[in-house]
Amino acid sequence: MKLRALTRMLVRAPRGAARWNTYADFRAEARRRLPKMVFDFVEGGAEGELTIAANRAAIDKVGLAPRYMVDVADRDVSTTVLGQPVSIPFLLAPAGLATLVHREGELAAARAAAAAGTVFAVSTGSGYSLEDIAAAAPGGRRWFQLYLWKSPEVVRSLLRRAADAGYEALVLTVDVPVVGKRERDLRTGMSLPPRIRWNSALDTARRLRWLRHLISGPDITFGSLVELGIGDDASAIGAYVDRELADPSRTWDDMAWLRREWNGPLLVKGVITPADAEAAVRWGADGVIVSNHGGRQLDSVPGAFAALPQIAEAVSDRAEVLVDGGCQRGADVVKARALGARAAMGGRSWFWGLAVGGEAGVARMLDVYRTDIDRTLALVGCRRFDDLGSVFLA
Ligand SMILES: Cc1cc2nc3c(=O)[nH]c(=O)nc-3n(C[C@H](O)[C@H](O)[C@H](O)COP(=O)(O)O)c2cc1C
Repeated sequence: MKLRALTRMLVRAPRGAARWNTYADFRAEARRRLPKMVFDFVEGGAEGELTIAANRAAIDKVGLAPRYMVDVADRDVSTTVLGQPVSIPFLLAPAGLATLVHREGELAAARAAAAAGTVFAVSTGSGYSLEDIAAAAPGGRRWFQLYLWKSPEVVRSLLRRAADAGYEALVLTVDVPVVGKRERDLRTGMSLPPRIRWNSALDTARRLRWLRHLISGPDITFGSLVELGIGDDASAIGAYVDRELADPSRTWDDMAWLRREWNGPLLVKGVITPADAEAAVRWGADGVIVSNHGGRQLDSVPGAFAALPQIAEAVSDRAEVLVDGGCQRGADVVKARALGARAAMGGRSWFWGLAVGGEAGVARMLDVYRTDIDRTLALVGCRRFDDLGSVFLA
């Protein structure tokens, strides 16, 4: 080959966010940048992590049945969730303490989600306060995730603040009667706020970019809970929540109270059986999120996608059904809809996007999902995401 032709072939490798084209790319880069204890905290699940494996296996088992020779020139990946439009049917699931992986944490995620036209479900355990997150992206759609704690005053105050800050819907997470046993965290000594122990000091010292974030960013704490008036130290707030607020005695009866306290739409997250989906709807839920908390709570639970069809069959005529857990590709989101969910959500994916590039990283992650959903629609022979259904399942 002539030298000139050869040099013409040499082009620069993609730079910036364009380098990341898959979930695996984001995850690998995040792994490079984060200390092991932080990476493992995000990546890990409960006990033997069988539920994490089950989430992926359930998705991989679903086959798609394409229809060819149909006009798919003009495609539409948008849909509606709770009656309002989203430009992309992939929503950011609630995940606490995003400031652990990037100093702009939930502020960056809120901006990226708003720009992409999707929903950001903000965790009660967010690093920034729910008010600051709302102010970061005033035009964006936001939901607020809540646990049914012991103190009605604390719950009421969070509800009032969420309503005042324009949160459109409430997400009640029901799969945390107690916190699951996260074996990786026990092994690495992960705590909140993170403490650098002798055995992790070298690993942490090598992550200079992360250390810079940590030093120049806000204190790692629970931004919305600082108002509880017990200081702003994350471990003090965490201990207070465990001791004074967490309440494993809560039942569906208590949801009646919540239903009266919150006027907007209410979704129940952590539903993995048709019986619980029925109960949630009976007690007034407008939607259910089929989820096993990304495998971070009870181990040996079926994959969320395995549970989805029966739950959709049971309640989707009365409530919106969403799903999360292991969604790593646009094709996974297409499968979710074909199996009966309105849209899919993800937790770790946006954490990896955030870890590698802040707002631009989350934006790129959402763009990857969007273009992959669009391509999959063309390949499966369905022009509109809203037209997907079981006919596209093999
Ligand atoms: C680091 C991290 C923190 C999380 N924190 C919360 C939380 O505060 N509330 C909640 O309801 N779910 C929480 N989740 C679970 C997610 O909402 C979601 O169910 C899960 O991440 C879905 O699985 P995926 O990560 O495979 O997408 C968290 C998940 C992760 C990875």
